[in-house]
Amino acid sequence: MNKDELLKEYVETFGEKGQDVFFSPGRINVIGEHTDYNGGHVFPAAISLGVYGVYGPRDDKKVRLFSGNVNGNIVEFDIDDTTVEKGERFWANYFKGMITYLREKYDNIDHGFNLYIKANLPSGSGLSSSAAIEMLMGIILKDEFKLDVDRVNLAKMGQRTENEFVGLNSGIMDQFACIMGKKDSAIFLDCNTLEYEYLPLELGNYEIIIMATNKPHTLADSAYNDRVRECHDALTKLQEKLDIKALGELDNDTFDEYSYLINDKTELKRARHAVSENQRAIRATKAMKDGDLEKIGRLINASHISLHYDYEVTGKELDTLAEASWKQDGVLGARMIGGGFGGSAIAIVKKDKAEEFKKNVGKTYRDKIGYDASFYDAEIVDGSKMI
Ligand code: GLA
Repeated sequence: MNKDELLKEYVETFGEKGQDVFFSPGRINVIGEHTDYNGGHVFPAAISLGVYGVYGPRDDKKVRLFSGNVNGNIVEFDIDDTTVEKGERFWANYFKGMITYLREKYDNIDHGFNLYIKANLPSGSGLSSSAAIEMLMGIILKDEFKLDVDRVNLAKMGQRTENEFVGLNSGIMDQFACIMGKKDSAIFLDCNTLEYEYLPLELGNYEIIIMATNKPHTLADSAYNDRVRECHDALTKLQEKLDIKALGELDNDTFDEYSYLINDKTELKRARHAVSENQRAIRATKAMKDGDLEKIGRLINASHISLHYDYEVTGKELDTLAEASWKQDGVLGARMIGGGFGGSAIAIVKKDKAEEFKKNVGKTYRDKIGYDASFYDAEIVDGSKMI
């Protein structure tokens, strides 16, 4: 998306000139799914699809938001209004949460602003459009009001926004990936300690292809919160005998020996996924350091299988994409990413097979599901910033 065009659209919307333009990326996750809120490891990367924002300061206390993607109205509220929005204005919560938590800490955010937003990341695509928006708001306030807040704290406020304003009990992966992203690297993050390490995504003759299901209207949020609760309940039972704070502290063997304590079919499956997926994320990043791409591919496939059978968050659209991918020439691995139920999947595909891959998987998907999937080449970029 072009900066001049965005500035022009700002003028058309607000009738005056905008001041600065920002970009906040979406993310993919190589491996480590539904491990973040279980104190495990994730391995995400920021992508060139994301959300743009044009900022202009105001003299009064009003915040006026306009989205160039929906045919809606300007949403307006006062900078000190901390109420949760409902209905049509719901999307303002992503901004309001960040404003609220930053204003709790910094009293120099003393005037309002206009913000024109435009995304090339479809919402509901499983590529973290909501975290991209939160981190967009975070970086704008940090830069424009010269706040000495660090990026990790912005990620924490984004997570809190999800939990308290949006009602999704998510972990920190998405916000962390959007704001801490680094060009051509993925972030190996321990969600228990927030220690992290950048690992270059060196894929040789291979590339990552993003496949969006384009599935409309999922009920992903309530199912997501169910998973969070089931894992929490399993953890509480394990704590009767084990001195742990999170499922991410367990290896597969220890989990196996104590799993009798859970004694509930659903909770057992959920916890088994959380533990095994965390171990896979650790093994995959080791394989990355060893340059063993084939092993990473197998672990990615195993991740999908575990998300299908144990975590039960895939659904026929994501399964179709993964299963069709596994059958193609030159594919190392494929799996769903993000919360699940709809959203997106990734595949690691040999560069010279990429076009054939998209054609074949696209056809299988259309035949089975009845509408098209979208394919994007993942370009790994830096975290949210002024452009
Ligand atoms: C969503 C959440 C993240 C994470 C993933 C699953 O994207 O926002 O915190 O839990 O699902 O790994």
